[in-house]
Amino acid sequence: MPKIKLLLATGNPHKAEEMRAILADAPVDLELVSLTEAAQGREILEPPETGKNYLENALIKAKHYGNTLALPCLADDSGLEIEALQGAPGLYSHRFLADCHSQAEKNARVLEILKDKPSEERRARFRCTAVIYGLSLLALKRPGVELDYLSAVATCEGSIAFKACGKAGFGYDPIFLTDDRGCCMAELDAAEKNSISHRGKAVRAVVQQLADLLKN
Ligand code: IMP
Repeated sequence: MPKIKLLLATGNPHKAEEMRAILADAPVDLELVSLTEAAQGREILEPPETGKNYLENALIKAKHYGNTLALPCLADDSGLEIEALQGAPGLYSHRFLADCHSQAEKNARVLEILKDKPSEERRARFRCTAVIYGLSLLALKRPGVELDYLSAVATCEGSIAFKACGKAGFGYDPIFLTDDRGCCMAELDAAEKNSISHRGKAVRAVVQQLADLLKN
């Protein structure tokens, strides 16, 4: 199988690091290129994430960076969905509570908002849509199939903790209690997080689809 050069279409260094670790033993021989490496000193602005759902946002990022740098690319869009907040912040997880000065402050505010909710009303999940865009650049676009991308969706189920715990990961990891491990996501090391996380599952699934296409 030929080596495939894939752009990691994210400006979030935590996500890029996770994607690299998740793909370390991928079923495809990949050369992962960061935005900084591919841009070679050129300034590339972030696209506005105006999609109506995770797939649209992931594709906005993938198309923007992939077309600008003429490379097939892997992008994701993800968010935390809290049932007691009717699924918020969800698609708006990054922009949620924008008046907070740090993620730690944001996490403390979420805990404050939910402070009177008992365990059974604290259900939450991370959701991630991962896409590989640029099948035509890889000569993998199938005849008669319009789509120039592959996509996969995954969730990681859990609840909002009563207090923040752990220092690993990023974002809402310190306040997300995983069903799988019974501790906060930020208490897991990178390999453990990637084995159960929304991003780990979605990225592995979309790369498996790429591997299947390459075999046929
Ligand atoms: P986006 O996918 O870059 O739009 O960012 C989504 C936001 O969701 C991030 O800025 C984080 O706040 C949050 N998020 C996404 N994935 C994770 C994760 O694995 N752990 C913690 N927070 C996450």
